[in-house]
Amino acid sequence: MNSGLPVILLHAFPLNSSMWAPQREALAGRTILAPDFPGFGGQPSAGAADLDEFARAVLRRLDDTGIERAVVVGLSMGGYVAFRFYDLAPDRIAALVLADTKAGADDPAGKAKRTDQAARVRREGVGWLPDTMLPALLGETARQTRPEVVSAVRKLIASAHPEGVARALEAMRERPDSTPLLADIAVPVLVLVGEEDTLTPPAEAQKIADGVPDGRLVVIPAAGHLSNLENPAAFNAALAEYLG
Ligand code: MLT
Repeated sequence: MNSGLPVILLHAFPLNSSMWAPQREALAGRTILAPDFPGFGGQPSAGAADLDEFARAVLRRLDDTGIERAVVVGLSMGGYVAFRFYDLAPDRIAALVLADTKAGADDPAGKAKRTDQAARVRREGVGWLPDTMLPALLGETARQTRPEVVSAVRKLIASAHPEGVARALEAMRERPDSTPLLADIAVPVLVLVGEEDTLTPPAEAQKIADGVPDGRLVVIPAAGHLSNLENPAAFNAALAEYLG
């Protein structure tokens, strides 16, 4: 792969682009774009709660910065947006890195949970979110042995804007099933997943790697759903090897 390609880093929910700090360091020397999605990192919320709108915002950033083609890296919600981005502008993507994400849509129970959580965030703010989400976002190893990661993720979640969080929940609830897209993805795809990821487990990652024409799966040891933060050394090594 062309090692000079710009890299676009798409963040997870309900975090923001600062989650990519360990990767920025590892990718120093490259052009990196790590946008905050609408409603996150101080960005105004999107008009419609729609992941296609998130993807269009990323495309505008590429246009504004004169980036023709890039490697798009998306983790979890960032992966959902990467699928929408591929659907929207496949010619702008040289390769995909899909981490701790899945191609399928929410099932009815998942949709109902998003609706309840969006209503609660609008009613109460985000104060309750870290305790609710941390056990699923972080793997056993990080929760037991990486207090600095736990507190950094807690702070990131607590800084999220309630309306941005609510709209992102609704956008994820309404996202289409990207499974039919997999066979049409005509670029190389690296699939990464934390071995302790329970939200989008290794079996989901395997489905993506098997479904695309040119897929490779790497399991990140001692990491859960936020594998880039929980085991940055292994995540960065897999990324660097793929890009290099
Ligand atoms: C994420 O990490 O972006 C979210 O857990 C994704 C989701 O809730 O489906």
